[in-house]
Amino acid sequence: MTAATGPDSTAQQTFYLKDYTPFGFEVDSVDLTFRLAPNATRVISRIHFTPKADAADPQFFLHGEKLKLISASIDGVAVTPDVTPEGLVCTTPDTAFLWEAEVEIDPAGNTALEGLYMSNGMYCTQCEAEGFRKITYYPDRPDVMSTFTVRIEADEEVLLSNGNPVSQGAGTAEWHDPWPKPAYLFALVAGDLVNHPDTFTTKSGRAVELNIWVRPGDEDKCAFGMDALKKSMTWDEQAYGREYDLDIFNIVAVDDFNMGAMENKGLNIFNSSCVLASPETSTDANFERIEAIIAHEYFHNWTGNRITCRDWFQLCLKEGLTVFRDAQFTSDMRSAPVKRISDVIDLRARQFPEDQGPLSHPVRPEEFQEINNFYTATIYEKGAEVIGMLKRLVGDEAYSRALDLYFERHDGQACTIEDWLKVFEDTTGRDLSQFKRWYSQAGTPRLKVDEAYDDGTYTLTFEQDTAPTPGQPQKDPRVIPIAIGLLNDNGDEVLPTTVLEMTEAKQVFEFKDLASKPVPSILREFSAPVVLERETSNAERAFLLAHDSDPFNQWEAGNSLARASRLSMVKTGSAPDPAYLDALQKLLRDDTLDPAFRALMLQPPSQSDIAQALFEDGTVPDPQKIDDAAETFAMTLAQQLADSLPRLYAATTVDGPYSPDATSAGKRALNGRILSLLTRLDGGDAAARQFASADNMTQQYSALASLMKAEKGETQSIAFFEQWQADRLVMDKWFALQVACASPDRAAGIAADLTRHPLFTLKNPNRFRAVMGALAGHHAGFHHASGAGYSLLAENLIALDKLNPQTTARMCTAFQTWKRYDSDRQSLIKAQLQRIATSGGLSRDTNEMVSRILNA
Ligand code: PHE
Ligand code: ZN
Repeated sequence: MTAATGPDSTAQQTFYLKDYTPFGFEVDSVDLTFRLAPNATRVISRIHFTPKADAADPQFFLHGEKLKLISASIDGVAVTPDVTPEGLVCTTPDTAFLWEAEVEIDPAGNTALEGLYMSNGMYCTQCEAEGFRKITYYPDRPDVMSTFTVRIEADEEVLLSNGNPVSQGAGTAEWHDPWPKPAYLFALVAGDLVNHPDTFTTKSGRAVELNIWVRPGDEDKCAFGMDALKKSMTWDEQAYGREYDLDIFNIVAVDDFNMGAMENKGLNIFNSSCVLASPETSTDANFERIEAIIAHEYFHNWTGNRITCRDWFQLCLKEGLTVFRDAQFTSDMRSAPVKRISDVIDLRARQFPEDQGPLSHPVRPEEFQEINNFYTATIYEKGAEVIGMLKRLVGDEAYSRALDLYFERHDGQACTIEDWLKVFEDTTGRDLSQFKRWYSQAGTPRLKVDEAYDDGTYTLTFEQDTAPTPGQPQKDPRVIPIAIGLLNDNGDEVLPTTVLEMTEAKQVFEFKDLASKPVPSILREFSAPVVLERETSNAERAFLLAHDSDPFNQWEAGNSLARASRLSMVKTGSAPDPAYLDALQKLLRDDTLDPAFRALMLQPPSQSDIAQALFEDGTVPDPQKIDDAAETFAMTLAQQLADSLPRLYAATTVDGPYSPDATSAGKRALNGRILSLLTRLDGGDAAARQFASADNMTQQYSALASLMKAEKGETQSIAFFEQWQADRLVMDKWFALQVACASPDRAAGIAADLTRHPLFTLKNPNRFRAVMGALAGHHAGFHHASGAGYSLLAENLIALDKLNPQTTARMCTAFQTWKRYDSDRQSLIKAQLQRIATSGGLSRDTNEMVSRILNA
């Protein structure tokens, strides 16, 4: 036998879509009793199974991990199953039978935060994707659906589970969920919690009790979340005709949570950072995110819960659709263009690097080792983009009929992407087999555009090409909806937005009877997740920035000017492009434009984006030079605006009582950008005054960030710490800011010091992400030539993996872009990846991630 010394992908089991086999038994009902105790909780299960007559796999296999089996019986007769670390196998009767088992688990010792665990003294669960098997023996797969009855026995005051309450007594509660569900939607909470109650009446008249449950002291941070929940319930009724289907809807805030939130049936569990909000402790960005996540989890009740996934390869079926729905909601509640632009910024920052690197995978993957590693930007965000394209191709009206059919046809089922596409085919008569490549082919298509104008006819020639991705050397052309508009020299639209449907590798589109050569506005609203390649000039970009009627492309024109300018600054050491500086100044002062939009225009391209652009251009990116260029640009802009900055700052300051609404938030976003410029010139006076007088976190935080970035915030940083040290969520901001605002030379050192801070802990994912996520996001600091950033992250990942594999594995993505950089940095990163790989006892999660990244 050879010792396991490194990541060896063959050593771990791989699961394949093609191997799908249904479970050989129906689960008629599930009855669970929990006797809660921190280190020795007993779970008693009584489950009725019926063997399927034509089962392809007749074996009675139940998943189970880290369970102590106390007893098992079938129809009341004790049995001795074959138990392995993954589960058990048992001989069973040919007809319906009752399986009973008692197991013991250790919630207090569960630091992986998967299954039943304890957070801050309360019991809670996280079962998606495969956490239920850490609670009891069960066919833990999403296509096995059943009704659950749950009895909880515990000392805690509040005892919650899915569905409707059946009975409540001293130290005990019973819940029944009438809707059949897979085990990943199971949830249980027990704690001394307090609630923020409300009610909602559905459009057909069902009275629903709503609660947000929190730890005592947090009850004043629930009102905004409750309001978002009610808005979401109303919106889903109006936009999709979907009503809530239980008598009660509970949300619980938990401090230790690997993800944002979880859509358990009738009992959503939230990372407290994604639900608790107050003006004093939350920024505008926090409020917006909370509203979106509450909506997302609520919308899952139909897209995920009532209709779920057949297997985990189909994860995008619920996630892509639910992200798409929550984006529609946010667009309706706030500004649609601002939401679209923000989403594209996010897609390019997170999904594009994933799709163009070693972790690239299809929206519907065909294999995995650890499903937890596939809760990715590709499944979620690209999954949502694919639905946006589908909607654009079939039109709004057909989209809505297709969705009605989807709900009608598949309610109560566990479905596949084939089922999803079929409702669109049946609704529209379209053949979507080529469109399906968006689900099966990984990689971001590059779309090259050439143009010609001759005698009144304007011709656009598009060519699409997708680079090979791991396991997929060959790509076929996809269906790409390309929304375009044409402008004449005066900036008038001569062709309003039109959707071209590209299906070939190379395709020509002609536009006749044009008096002069038009200026094209291509990929309006970002109609497809592709990289557009087109020879253009800064003059044309500036023209579109001034005249494009499509807000996305107007922003995109400014963004591409910014990128072009930044690239030439880095490559040739040139000064910032004066034409772009000029255009920015005009925009900044243009009061006819939405302040939130202007704030986005002022947001510089991310340094990681610039690195990727340089790399694609054949230039090895130098992170320090990229940072220098960003600094030079900001300083130049500040100096050019010097005379008007104080006035602009005053004019955009939002006075009066704080309100998190989109309009005020947009104004504050613009004001924050102006403040950061002003702080470069005024010695920090305005920011210090804002910090001292702020009555809300948005203004306090933006003042502190500006000061710290200018290395003038030492006193304020200490004051902030003193003021907020008892508030975990605000302290996460403080930790993150220390790293994010540090100079590239100091970022890793400061992060290292913070890991020794008394308030730092590996046990809380939010705190870990505050420090390590900020380091990974500090481009020049993380990629510092010393390699200190790489080794600090590796050291902490090795430590965290012993406690929490999921969060460790997710943070390995910080290394996914390593092939962009110079050979010195590549060897430094490779050494750290190998160090993690050989650290011993690596989790399956982290092992898979590190091997995939190393095999680039
Ligand atoms: N299903 C959750 C969501 O998207 C995400 C999640 C996945 C949470 C896995 C926890 C664990 O809303
Ligand atoms: Zn989701």
